[in-house]
Amino acid sequence: EDAAFLAAFQARIDAEEKIEPKDAMPEGYRRTLVRQIGQHAHSEIVGMLPEGNWITRAPSLRRKAALLAKVQDEGGHGLYLYSAAETLGVSREQMTEELLSGKAKYSSIFNYPTLSWADIGIIGWLVDGAAIMNQIPLCRCSFGPYARAMIRVCKEESFHQRQGYEIVMTLMRGTEAQKAMAQDALDRWWWPALMMFGPHDSESAHSEQSMAWKIKRFSNDALRQKFIDATVPQAEFLGLKVPDPDMVWDAGLNDGQGGYRHGPIDWDEFWRVVKGGGVMNRDRIRARRKAWEDGAWVREAARAHALKRAARKVA
Ligand code: ACO
Repeated sequence: EDAAFLAAFQARIDAEEKIEPKDAMPEGYRRTLVRQIGQHAHSEIVGMLPEGNWITRAPSLRRKAALLAKVQDEGGHGLYLYSAAETLGVSREQMTEELLSGKAKYSSIFNYPTLSWADIGIIGWLVDGAAIMNQIPLCRCSFGPYARAMIRVCKEESFHQRQGYEIVMTLMRGTEAQKAMAQDALDRWWWPALMMFGPHDSESAHSEQSMAWKIKRFSNDALRQKFIDATVPQAEFLGLKVPDPDMVWDAGLNDGQGGYRHGPIDWDEFWRVVKGGGVMNRDRIRARRKAWEDGAWVREAARAHALKRAARKVA
């Protein structure tokens, strides 16, 4: 790739032009998108599992219907995202194999167990809240198919966030035991939710290049800070305590507008979970592998049907 090509490509990015699948693009740009969109798709699909765990135990028909719809939405998000990645020349089979073999990453957050009904509320509020914070800027990503997929995804995520918040609000209006259940869930999910945004900017291998290419619009730390500043007042409103003894209001943060300074994040835990050592990593991959194997007959039948139709057309 010569310097003139790279400069011309960067000029298109700087002019806020969308890059489309058939456009010439640097190999690194293509690779970065395949990696990020693939990881994102896998996160949506694996992300169905922790909440799927509570569908049969939702406390009412209304809660069950909403949770079912949410988990289905996540399946849909995974499918749009696999399709967006396929426009870059990777197949869904290839991406699935990389997930099942442990080669491809997915979000660390989905390797934690869902122990009580309150977890479903806290996940909607925090995990979907964090996902929205990260994904709204992706609607302006320089790669057209990814940006367009994110518009619908974000609308649905916003419904997910509200259904979670409303579950937590209901619990906080309930008995002491229900309030304690919500606090316990917040205690367990707070730090993993902050880790969703990825390592600090100083440790983030891809941020600088991804921001220059306008794949990422904000850095990991900037988005994490926005999330904290939006979420802490919500916790206060709900009557919950954020489990960070070092958290303080700092009037100097956010260019003097003020913000909440957080205590140290346990990055050893983060990397342990990313590398497969979380409580649920093995379970998650086992469940995905079983689904893939159990679905083999559907893929075979669809292929046989397509071949038969093609043969009929020729005849
Ligand atoms: N979980 C697992 N791996 C992570 C996480 C995380 N929370 N955060 C960062 N990483 C990985 C990166 O994938 C990268 O690994 P790789 O080089 O093997 O691909 C490594 O840690 C270094 O991190 P960064 O250089 O900061 O990586 P990147 O620039 O890709 O930023 C981020 C990470 C912010 C997650 C980015 O990829 C992104 O915005 N992705 C799209 C959103 C997404 O995937 N959301 C999934 C969760 S939300 C949901 O599914 C409901």
